[in-house]
Formats: sequence, C-alpha cells, structure tokens
Amino acid sequence: MWQKIEAAPADSILGLTEAFRNDPNPQKVNLGVGVYKDEAGKTPILDCVKAAEKVLLERESTKSYLPISGDPLYAAEVQKLLFGENGEVIASGRAATAHAPGGTGALRVGGDLLKKFYPNAKVWISKPTWANHKGVFQTAGFALAEYAYYNPATRAVDFEAMVKSLESIPAGDVVLLHACCHNPSGVDLSNDQWRKVAAIGKAKGWIPFLDFAYQGFGEGLAEDRFGIEVFAATGVDFFVASSFSKNFGLYNERTGALTIVSPTKAEAAVAMSHLKTTIRVIYSNPPAHGGLVVATILSTPALRAQWLEELSAMRNRIKAMRVALVEGLADRKVKGDFSSIISQRGMFSFSGLSDEVVQWLRTNKAIYVVAGGRINLAGLTQANIGYVCDAIAEAMNK
Ligand code: LMR
Repeated sequence: MWQKIEAAPADSILGLTEAFRNDPNPQKVNLGVGVYKDEAGKTPILDCVKAAEKVLLERESTKSYLPISGDPLYAAEVQKLLFGENGEVIASGRAATAHAPGGTGALRVGGDLLKKFYPNAKVWISKPTWANHKGVFQTAGFALAEYAYYNPATRAVDFEAMVKSLESIPAGDVVLLHACCHNPSGVDLSNDQWRKVAAIGKAKGWIPFLDFAYQGFGEGLAEDRFGIEVFAATGVDFFVASSFSKNFGLYNERTGALTIVSPTKAEAAVAMSHLKTTIRVIYSNPPAHGGLVVATILSTPALRAQWLEELSAMRNRIKAMRVALVEGLADRKVKGDFSSIISQRGMFSFSGLSDEVVQWLRTNKAIYVVAGGRINLAGLTQANIGYVCDAIAEAMNK
C-alpha cells in the first residue's frame, strides 16, 4: 500500500520534540514545543493535580461512559473560568460546554460543527498563527484566509491593519482569535483593542472563535479572559476552545472543552444538541480522567487555592526568564533590540531570530527553536540561560 506514497513531513512543532529526544548532545535545550518546564528543566505534575488524583483514586467507583458532552460538574467549572463565578452568561444559561480531548480536539469539534451549517464559510486566522490551526480547519473542510496581526518591524500588533482586515470579513465567516498569550508572537490586544474587535464582529456578523489555551499565563485568570467577556457582553454567537494542558500541566490527559455561547438559553440548548451529534461520530464521548482532575481541583477550595499558587509560580518564572534573556543578550552586546521580549505574554516570544540562525543553533548548539523564531521561554532555566545567550551571541555576531 505505501510503496507509491511519499512519507509525510514531520510536524513543525511536535516533530522538533522527537528530534530533540534523539539528539545525543548533553547540552541540548528545547525551546520548541509549548510545554512548561521548572527551574530543574522538568515538566512537573502540579501538587494540586497529585492531590486531586489521590481523592479520585478513593472516590471513583466506575469507569462507565461519561455523557457525550462529558461530566456536567466539569462543564460548570469550565464556564466559571471563562465567565467568572457570577458571570451573566452562566446565570442566563446561554452557554453550552462539552469536554473535548485537548484544545486541539475542541477546535476540531467546533470546525466540524460549523462546517455543517456554514459549508461555504472561510476561516480567518491571524498572520501569523499556531501552525496547527491551519491543519485543523483545512481538514474540517474550510478554505483559510489571513487577517493582519503582527508587525515584525514594530514587534507589536498592527492594529490599524487588523481592523481593516476584520472590517472586510463577511457575515458567516469564522474569525479565529487568540484569547490571550498569542501563539507564536506573545503579543496580545489591549482591552480597548478587544472592545473594538468585538464591536466589529457584532456589526459585521462574522463568527468569533476564541482559542483559549493559556488562561493564567498572561496576567491572571480574570485579566486573561477579557476578550471572552467583551464578546459575551455583545450578545453575539461565539465559540471558545479551552485547553488545560498548560495551566493545569495536564498535557497528556487531553483535557479541553468547547463552549458555544448563544444569545439565549433556548439557542444554547440547540447548540448543545449539535455539539453532541458532532462529538458522537468522532470519539463518541470524552476520556474522563483529566476532566475529573480539573473539576475536583476547581470545586475544592483548598485545592483551588493551591492551583492558583502553582499557576502564578509558573507565570512568574516565565516572566523572570524573559528578563534574564534580554539582559543576557544585552550583556553580550548581541545586535538588535530584544526589549519587546519582556512585555510579550505567555509562554512564547517571537525572538526576531532568522530561520538561518534557528537552523545554526540547532545544528551547532543543539538548541531547538521553532521555524520562524518562536521560542518557548519556559525552556530556559538559570542553568542553561548562559549557554543559550552565548550561542545566540555567537550566531548573531558572526
Ligand atoms: C505549541 O504550540 O507548542 C503547543 O500548543 C503544543 C502543540 O501541540 O503544538
């Protein structure tokens, strides 16, 4: 069967992890995939997760199927994270949430569902965006288009160009937005810019789809959901894909959710019915463990408090590494202005490193960076930052 079929290329992000694993260089550093690492260079299981798992081991009494949309307690907790404890969307019951296998699973369920009702829509992605966004929505059958977002010259959002793009998008098309911690640039919208984007969405009638994979990695849970809140306030229909891979460190438990917000409770019930039929034919119903862990933590005050502490420790460590990197490059008189790395948010930064430098770092120093120059700040530690700064200095000052 495979003799006449060419092998597929390695994934631009996960393929890098594979290559990193196989690299024998003891000094190797992985600044590729968006996975948090602690000061020891490990991706730890959070203490609150371990504690919740102990509770579950005792409490869990069946491995029978979950409902198609997952555990209702999980859905309720996901909605509190999205809209706040006392969110109007929750009080009015106008959101439908289903557990999906990871943020990627949530995006794909949303894509398949939208394709049923908007078969001719285009999906608009930010320029640039997470590489897998393209694959997910193309595979769901959509044509893609890009809206302006990041300006490499200013290392900031080109908001004027973004507004122009968004105003040109017709009703019924889908606009994929990064709710916070833009991947790959690390550059987010200000609150005023979010208000303007939501107003354009409402006026034009396009369908907002917010990818929310880094809640808590920007400034905090409440600050990072500002974009969700402004869209909720406009009363339009919109979609949110949540991921708990990063903020709960539950990467391999594939714990995410798709939430569809509608203008009324009655419409949310219709949305939920179609969410279920969409899920049933892809994976039938979700895996239980990660959702149970998240629901247990969020509904147990002591575990929730512990989680918030662990989350802010991750956020603060990444922020400290941003400063350390910029200072390290300045100390070595590396050409270029890297100061914007400090104000970028989340795990990533568009470092400004060219593809040539990225390749050189990999070949000569076993430092792995995603093509395009995206670096994962969480891969830096006090132990490897000097090595990385030396290597970048060598590459850039050649
Ligand atoms: C990333 O962007 O590195 C992460 O979201 C992991 C992935 O699946 O690509």
